[in-house]
Amino acid sequence: MRTPFVVGNWKLNKTIAESLALVTELKNQLGAVKGVAVGVAPVFTSLHSVAKRLEGSAIATCGQNCHFETTGAWTGEVSAPLLADAGATWVIVGHSERRQFFGDTSEIVGKKARAVLAAGLGAIVCVGELLAERDAGRTLAVVDDQLAGGLAGIDAAAAASKIVIAYEPVWAIGTGRTATPAQAQEVHAHIRKWLADRFTPTTADAIRIQYGGSVKPSNAEALMSEKDIDGALVGGASLEAADFIAIVKAARPS
Ligand code: PGA
Repeated sequence: MRTPFVVGNWKLNKTIAESLALVTELKNQLGAVKGVAVGVAPVFTSLHSVAKRLEGSAIATCGQNCHFETTGAWTGEVSAPLLADAGATWVIVGHSERRQFFGDTSEIVGKKARAVLAAGLGAIVCVGELLAERDAGRTLAVVDDQLAGGLAGIDAAAAASKIVIAYEPVWAIGTGRTATPAQAQEVHAHIRKWLADRFTPTTADAIRIQYGGSVKPSNAEALMSEKDIDGALVGGASLEAADFIAIVKAARPS
């Protein structure tokens, strides 16, 4: 049985003080929640303070991105070992905003995922199609390519608990337009099958697949009651404690 995992991706939002206020509320209110894993992904400048504040709670601190090299002449970059040093236990790689605006190809996403796992952290590998790709009937092919690149060279059987796939249709991110539970489930089931073919059915059963794209308190329960949807990657609605807490509670197995 997979434990659902709900992660708040704060993107480029919140000062250190604002981040601490939010996680303090999450820590107080989610301390007793059972049956669901929770994480937050603050901006790099707040990450260490957030991780310190979350000490003693089960809420994980996550990086939003990292570089694939560990150290060296890479001005402006942050590496997976340095994120671990700052208190992160998970790192998101291949978010569609990284792919669209910062040139992250699936090959680069794979290098980043390998660097994250090598640093002993968990990798949340994002995949998802553009609207034009969905309209052209290419959703599953696009997702397959992104999975092949993002998981290249990874022994998922050994690392199943440290790999999470986040299916985020790009047309649903920040648009208020969510995939229907059936649309999401179709792609999630396809991803599970891809993982079973590529690795083993046991490994595919153990890897969690999050849904992301305009998840809110009003749609979270319907999405997460689908068989292959194991939690959520939440953007906008993770910036308000009440909304994020409601989404976390909706992810509990009933
Ligand atoms: P959204 O973002 O919930 O604001 O649509 C999701 C994401 O980008 O991870």
